[in-house]
Amino acid sequence: MKKKLRIGVLTAGGDCPGLNAAIRAVGKAAVNYYGWEVIGIRDGFRGLVEENYVRLDKSALAGILTIGGTILGTSRDRPHRMLINGEERDMTDVIVRNYKKLKLDALVCIGGGGTQKSALRLAKKGLNIITLPKTIDNDVPFTDTSLGFDTALSVATEAIDRLHSTAHSHHRIVVAELMGHRAGWLALGAGVAGGADVILIPEIPYDVNKVAEAIKRRSRHGTNFSIVAVAEGAMSEAEAAKFASAHRRKEAAKTAAAKAKARAELVRLDEQHSGNTLRLAEELEKLTGLESRVTILGYVQRGGTPSTADRLLATRLGTACVHLIKDGVFEVMVAARGDNTEPVPLETVAGVRKQVPLDHPWITAARKIGTCFGD
Ligand code: F6P
Repeated sequence: MKKKLRIGVLTAGGDCPGLNAAIRAVGKAAVNYYGWEVIGIRDGFRGLVEENYVRLDKSALAGILTIGGTILGTSRDRPHRMLINGEERDMTDVIVRNYKKLKLDALVCIGGGGTQKSALRLAKKGLNIITLPKTIDNDVPFTDTSLGFDTALSVATEAIDRLHSTAHSHHRIVVAELMGHRAGWLALGAGVAGGADVILIPEIPYDVNKVAEAIKRRSRHGTNFSIVAVAEGAMSEAEAAKFASAHRRKEAAKTAAAKAKARAELVRLDEQHSGNTLRLAEELEKLTGLESRVTILGYVQRGGTPSTADRLLATRLGTACVHLIKDGVFEVMVAARGDNTEPVPLETVAGVRKQVPLDHPWITAARKIGTCFGD
């Protein structure tokens, strides 16, 4: 490989704390240590379509370690299904062309599950792609953790801490909704760390009567307030059965029309799910006779300065990534493994979601201290 390389870096998917720390690590290792050139691609894969770039020189990389979000901007655009003038188009070939036009030797894609899939698609088109895992949901597989998760966990835990005193003072049920549509890591971790009395996650469908019973049991023992930490995607047993059956129909579909019908059903179920936390709080109020209130934490969990652990992770992953590029290792995600990092083939990572195993130590420990999971 030639000596002075030119690499691109982009952030894709939802933003999170630690992205700038990762851009900085990749950039500084490449520019300062190896003497390469680094091009920042704006707004995820869209920047490669619209040729929207910025040169990341020493001054652009300075002072960004602690800043939240991403200086490059991000988007959920996927190369093969990009909205262009209101029309969905496959822009893969345009991206390949612009990568070559830019004379890039490698492209670093920092993102979550969707980004890993898009990155693999581009790698199959011949681009030298390497990725870093990023998601506050912690659902990227084959890595101990992902950029943003630790910070979001601290923010969510602090919120639950603060909700305790108000729930206690007013003798209320406070239902705190945390992010995580398909994986409950954030609600589980913050719930355990914040001492939530009930934790509801997508991996464990709940029975609202069992949740109400746990709250009433606390009341009978003289504690007339409760904190319920609920993941966005947590669902009742009845709702989970409907989703499972639609998924089964999608998998079994023999024709494109049958697949489309099952997909539409899943979209409809997703739409019906929105507002679930509010409905849950109302049901709990009726079943327990205790007043209930809802707090939806939302994007607060994704904002602000990265935690110490996320800064360390970003610096480790970013610099390891540059080292792998130097060695010509591509089509991999740089995973965190203990104190080290490890390249994992994108083929292995793409399309897989890391959900909470039902026997995860956080769950077994929480059950032992009497936390209710609604099952
Ligand atoms: O990227 C993860 C995440 O924050 C999820 O927890 C959440 O469900 C989703 O993104 C929200 O997506 P958007 O930013 O598109 O509203």
